Amino acid sequence: MEDSNMEKKLQGSKRGSSQREIPIPPAALLLLVMVLMNILLYLYLDHVFVSPLPSGVEARPCPFGTFRMGQMKNCSPWLSCESLRTAVRKLKRVGEGAVKRVFLSEWKEQKVALSQLTSPEMKEDFLHGVKMLKALQSEHVVLLIGCCEDDGTLLTEYHPLGTLKTLEETLNLPKYQSLNTWHHRLKLAINYVSIINYLHTSPLGTLVMCDSNDLDKMLSQYLLASNFHIVANDLDALPVVHKSNGTLIKCGHRELVGEFVAPEQLWPYGEETPFDDERMPPYDEKTDIWKIPDVTSFLLGHVEGSDVVRFHLFEIHQACKKKNPEERPSAQEVLDAYRRF
Ligand SMILES: Nc1ncnc2c1ncn2[C@@H]1O[C@H](COP(=O)(O)OP(=O)(O)O)[C@@H](O)[C@H]1O
Ligand SMILES: [Mg+2]
Repeated sequence: MEDSNMEKKLQGSKRGSSQREIPIPPAALLLLVMVLMNILLYLYLDHVFVSPLPSGVEARPCPFGTFRMGQMKNCSPWLSCESLRTAVRKLKRVGEGAVKRVFLSEWKEQKVALSQLTSPEMKEDFLHGVKMLKALQSEHVVLLIGCCEDDGTLLTEYHPLGTLKTLEETLNLPKYQSLNTWHHRLKLAINYVSIINYLHTSPLGTLVMCDSNDLDKMLSQYLLASNFHIVANDLDALPVVHKSNGTLIKCGHRELVGEFVAPEQLWPYGEETPFDDERMPPYDEKTDIWKIPDVTSFLLGHVEGSDVVRFHLFEIHQACKKKNPEERPSAQEVLDAYRRF
């Protein structure tokens, strides 16, 4: 009995079965060293992989209605009206669109973006945007920290690199010049098409990014996170298409012009006939597909190799520009083609 216990101890497979037995110092020492090494390894891995959380990305997902950002360990409920009124300090204005005025602000010593409704007429769009932000929280969408529908305020994660509109300036900064390569820029295009694909296959149905009647407008709806990932930010104009019951959409009620919008978004009855929203035929999410080649071309820019990428993407981009929306590929098909590159 004693012998077999001893044997087990020597093998290190059983410990402390009897305190009166004489311990074997080398084995105990070995065990202690192993435990210490494990603790050290754990602490090292914890330091390397957990502490420097890139803001908001690895931290997700949190349960619905909660968020986690920066160094926060746990998910916390979205801030309420009360907290937005008392615990958020505005620092400076960083942007404005038709619906929201956006301020770099501070909450618990963290930088955040406070958006305020610009005018009561835009409340409906604002509320739609809030609803979408809430429902679409994921790696593809800006992190929601809180909202107060009564006050028309909204708190999101602040992204100091701003929108895609200023991508070229950002890439020209000495700090980011190493990322100004065709390879990183193609990654951004893949990232962008992944977001479109996410919106087209979202939990709420097929959503169309309508606030995109020209390239600048489109680019201003997406933020560039510091980890060089794109997130969709402005979701105020995202109508839903229901293919099954034939529900199509229109991006606003006014006449659209120019080459950036899809041909089916243009008034089809000629210049002599005045525009009439009632007679304007509706369309679907393939308008987003039409716009992909232009956005991608902007994202690729003009660096060594970007023309080679453009050449390789020529065929799929030609398909995106088919006049007949039904002949255009899905976002998933575009994504597959980009990833095959
Ligand atoms: N989280 C943010 N971080 C940094 N800048 C932001 C953030 N949110 C918005 N902005 C800036 O504010 C501008 C307007 O915001 P946006 O949500 O698009 O308002 P609108 O709905 O009125 O178009 C953006 O184009 C961007 O420049
Ligand atoms: Mg906007």
